[in-house]
Amino acid sequence: MDKYKYLIRGGKPLNGEVEISGAKNASVAIIPAALLVNGVCRIEHIPNISDTEMLLRIMKCYGAKIRQVNKTTVEIDCRNVHLSDGAYDMMRKIRASYYLIGAQLGRFGKAKTTMPGGCNFGVRPIDQHVKGMTALGAQVEVCGGYICCETPEDGLKGANIYLDKISVGATMNIMIAAVLAKGRTVIENCAKEPHIVDLANFLNSMGADVRGAGTDTIKINGVRELRGGSYSVIPDQIEAGTYMAAVAAAGGEVLVKNVIPKHLDCITAKLREIGVEIEEKEDAVLVRREGQLRHTNIRTLPYPGFPTDMQPQISTLLCLAKGTSVVTESVWDNRYKYVDELRKMGADIQVDGTVAVIQGGTHFTGAPVTACDLRAGAAMVIAGLCADGLTELEDVEFIERGYEDFIGKLRALGADIMRLTDPDQPEQEDSMCTAG
Ligand code: EPU
Repeated sequence: MDKYKYLIRGGKPLNGEVEISGAKNASVAIIPAALLVNGVCRIEHIPNISDTEMLLRIMKCYGAKIRQVNKTTVEIDCRNVHLSDGAYDMMRKIRASYYLIGAQLGRFGKAKTTMPGGCNFGVRPIDQHVKGMTALGAQVEVCGGYICCETPEDGLKGANIYLDKISVGATMNIMIAAVLAKGRTVIENCAKEPHIVDLANFLNSMGADVRGAGTDTIKINGVRELRGGSYSVIPDQIEAGTYMAAVAAAGGEVLVKNVIPKHLDCITAKLREIGVEIEEKEDAVLVRREGQLRHTNIRTLPYPGFPTDMQPQISTLLCLAKGTSVVTESVWDNRYKYVDELRKMGADIQVDGTVAVIQGGTHFTGAPVTACDLRAGAAMVIAGLCADGLTELEDVEFIERGYEDFIGKLRALGADIMRLTDPDQPEQEDSMCTAG
């Protein structure tokens, strides 16, 4: 696979309209969950990114028939699926492969997956997923880099599960596994992200009985079978937030279209606090920045708190603000690797554990830098858009795993950004670390 880099010449404001794609973190659960469906699911608004493409390839290994209706609509026919050993190399590359545990268990009563991949920001345990599957009656063993699960003859049985830690992945994975289990499952201390509600809506539209998604208690009454149906994925809250932060950094006025403004409340509130003008429309937000940005303090939290997946982008923005800001990352232990890259462009940020102290007033200067992971990469693009001179950003495949047509959308807003093959980087079969 060719390696690419982005060349960004900063200093151009962003103006116009941008259309937000379907949510990555909903799609990466919904695609594996289609394995439960004994019929054809038509899914619209799947973002055209490499993580969803990889998951669709994985689904084919189980015998799913995939018909790409258009760029963002697929039909997945799982009427004749079977267990398979063919997908392990692909599973290793994506975090969301953990949803195949719940999906295989639900459909086949057995599951084997690799340990999930994913962006490397510290320890990423899956003990809460294992706790949930075990409570439903599965025997889970981790050996040789694989997670192997078996269920008793009579299959999974509903259970009460209290999550010790609020986890998006564990909430969704247990939900997927429980949909076809016998009886009632109650998951408490659930995550409440919009993509959790979206997964529940998808499952319900296929015939499941999932209630309470979006609150901290989800109740699932097991059903015998899921049939086919049609579903449209919600817009990507983080993609929208990233464009909002980009406009705030580069200046200009952009209508961010195809959003659910309510899902953006946590981002909108902080951007307004630092001086960004945001007008909410029915399914769009108009973002404008003319004056000086103000400092603030931010703590990342599970939804409806400020999302960790916006932390690198907003921290970059706070470098431009007047005064000192304090950002506390309370979801992940180690999500500040990008700070070293940002310093190469002039940022003044001190990190101590999960706290970053950002001295504002930076004027970024272009530099050769690296995208350490998906959101870190987006943050480097934002810095490049408002930097003096040329920014050369490497390892951009991380970005392309989570943002559909990032370059095309930014160019349409007036950004001077190009994607080139990177002759300095050796060709790779595929990178090991991925989005999410
Ligand atoms: N945790 C545990 N045990 C578990 C699971 C999680 O201790 O079994 C801890 C984690 O270590 C972390 C916290 O709980 O400290 C939250 O983790 P969570 O399970 O919620 O994260 P995830 O499901 O692995 C998803 C997104 C991430 C996003 C987080 C938090 C996907 C594929 N990934 O990860 O997205 O940061 O939720 O919202 O949905 C991204 O899109 O850039 C991204 C990293």
